Amino acid sequence: MPALDAKLKQERTAREARQEWRALAQTEPLAAMRVRRNGRTLISFSGNDYLGLSRHPEVVAAASTALARYGAGAGASRLVTGNHPRYGALEARLAAIKQSEAALVVGSGYLANLGAIPALAGKGDLILADKLSHACILDGARLSGANLKRFKHNDMADLARLLAAHRTHHAQCLIITEHVFSMDGDVAPLKEIRALCDAHDAVMMVDDAHGLGILSPDLQPDLWMGTLSKAAGGYGGYLAGSRVVIDHLTATMRSVIFSTALPPATIAAAERALELMTPERATRVLMLARRFTSALDLPHAQTAIVPLIIGDSAAACEASAQLEEAGFLVTAIRPPTVARGTARLRVTFSALHEETMVDALAAAVKTCVATKFENAD
Ligand SMILES: Cc1ncc(COP(=O)(O)O)c(C=O)c1O
Repeated sequence: MPALDAKLKQERTAREARQEWRALAQTEPLAAMRVRRNGRTLISFSGNDYLGLSRHPEVVAAASTALARYGAGAGASRLVTGNHPRYGALEARLAAIKQSEAALVVGSGYLANLGAIPALAGKGDLILADKLSHACILDGARLSGANLKRFKHNDMADLARLLAAHRTHHAQCLIITEHVFSMDGDVAPLKEIRALCDAHDAVMMVDDAHGLGILSPDLQPDLWMGTLSKAAGGYGGYLAGSRVVIDHLTATMRSVIFSTALPPATIAAAERALELMTPERATRVLMLARRFTSALDLPHAQTAIVPLIIGDSAAACEASAQLEEAGFLVTAIRPPTVARGTARLRVTFSALHEETMVDALAAAVKTCVATKFENAD
């Protein structure tokens, strides 16, 4: 066996022993929140299409028209010849939604964080990020070469302590949080973070991947980051801020300069989806999430994401398998996506779920999952 294969097999065995090996499971999306996996139809509570827009006929029609007219790909990066005329309209809409002067659409949310953070901070600067920040925030921060420190999750005293200890030794400081935390569904104290940024001359950046279309805070960070792949139902990332910041990112972000622009059909789909992002759809998804948390005596859902924290990775996988047996797709989330000892079922809701589906899932969780959830009241 080649040396590389032998080394990787050994690593795989170790990961498997920790229940941390990951493999792809073929999953065909069907209509009405259903998927087909292992020959069975399941009701999915595992996607991020919170408003059910990915299959909305008007979104699909917008994408089909653009596909027929412009073809499958953009052909080049935006700074070469990939800057499709529809980008302007999409960015204007995003800027308006985020109450910012300007917006910039990039290949994905991952590429937005990976590119924007090193474009704003570098060696000699300080980045303070919430402990539960998504991997691409941490990857962007590490890539920047700035001094990265993580504050305890949503803990303003810890953030203030880090600022007091380190701010003055660095030229610039960037404070980064998620708005809605992807694996916990809780919300950051944005107003308190804004106040600390103002007091310590720090730049505030907020990843709104899971907030767009669900919650609208009346507060301005220096930079919003987000994605069109979750409530907007499509694909692509974006940044929104002042015209000066957005022009700087456009000119310097490596993931804009050195990556092909999104396909025109993707731009057209996103533009239509943003128009369909109504408060009624958001209210419905929150109502469904709360129906579920009430049924299971869990803390009131704040967003479309409800974790059922189990702890042990093997137990979380077992619970997921039992729910699959009962007809539901609810994926187990394990380390390193979440901290060791906090493996969980991540239940996500969509405006397209029926109340009866939510009630059936709650009943199945009660019968299939023996453990008491660590986040139960
Ligand atoms: C908080 C957060 N930021 C960024 C991303 C990346 O977005 P995308 O899936 O568009 O790359 C995700 C989703 O995976 C996320 O949960």
